[in-house]
Amino acid sequence: MAYKIKVWCFLLFLLKLVSNLQNCAHAAPQVPCFFIFGDSLADSGNNNHLVTTSKANYRPYGIDFPNGTTGRFTNGRTTVDIIGELLGFDQFIPPFVTARGRDILVGVNYASGAAGIRDESGRELGDRISLNEQLQNHAATFNRSIQLLGTEQAATNYLNKCLYYVSLGTNDYINNYFVPGNYETSRLYTQDQYAKVLIDQYSQQIKRLYLFGARKIALPGLIPLGSIPYASSTLCLKNLSCVANINNAVLPFNAGLF
Ligand SMILES: *[C@@H]1O[C@H](CO)[C@@H](O)[C@H](O)[C@H]1NC(C)=O
Ligand SMILES: *[C@@H]1O[C@H](CO)[C@@H](O)[C@H](O)[C@H]1NC(C)=O
Ligand SMILES: *[C@@H]1O[C@H](CO)[C@@H](O)[C@H](O)[C@H]1NC(C)=O
Repeated sequence: MAYKIKVWCFLLFLLKLVSNLQNCAHAAPQVPCFFIFGDSLADSGNNNHLVTTSKANYRPYGIDFPNGTTGRFTNGRTTVDIIGELLGFDQFIPPFVTARGRDILVGVNYASGAAGIRDESGRELGDRISLNEQLQNHAATFNRSIQLLGTEQAATNYLNKCLYYVSLGTNDYINNYFVPGNYETSRLYTQDQYAKVLIDQYSQQIKRLYLFGARKIALPGLIPLGSIPYASSTLCLKNLSCVANINNAVLPFNAGLF
């Protein structure tokens, strides 16, 4: 009996050693910091205290997330949570609303449900933090990193090494262009013109991020937006040519990202 217990203890000790070694192997993330700009696909709580219907800080959101409901618009982790884990971060990147002090050195998640490249996108849902405002919040982070790291040069050197994930545009279509009762963009622009208008504005916004030291920037394209349930059921009332029309509208936007 005593012998068996000893063997078990030894096995447990080995397991613990292996798992510690694995933790060591994961200790340094591939980049020191990860900044996220986006909409509800990435929001992790920034909309919780805004006056908007675009929020997710109640159940069943979060039922499969380790900490329960957080404001993420999903039952579990978001795409950026998973990317953060794959990069080797041992914590989720904090949302801008709760990031304090040295928290910002691992990065900040500025994403806000209903936000768009254009300031007015998502307006019919209530308050949201548009990409321009997210960049304004990043200006505050930039200033705080100068305070934390000593000089502007030191802050810029540090921010050069971070990964920046910028994913907006969805709401510029499904909560703007394809809601003609609330927005005039579909009367002002053809679909091709609108994609170009969005890309031109996005380019200016990315340049602003570049001026804050960003050098590694990921710009994912949009999914076929007509096929998401809100678009196919509410905007298109299950009309398949309407769904195809929205899916096609995002193609020139995606092409413009290259
Ligand atoms: C989850 O809760 C733990 C313990 O309260 C806390 O330390 C951690 O920061 C939380 N994580 C998230 C992603 O909210
Ligand atoms: C950052 O600091 C600059 C220079 O001190 C100042 O002009 C700017 O208003 C600050 N921006 C924010 C968002 O705090
Ligand atoms: C379905 O959508 C197409 C494209 O948006 C539109 O031209 C057509 O009138 C719609 N059909 C119906 C029955 O609403």
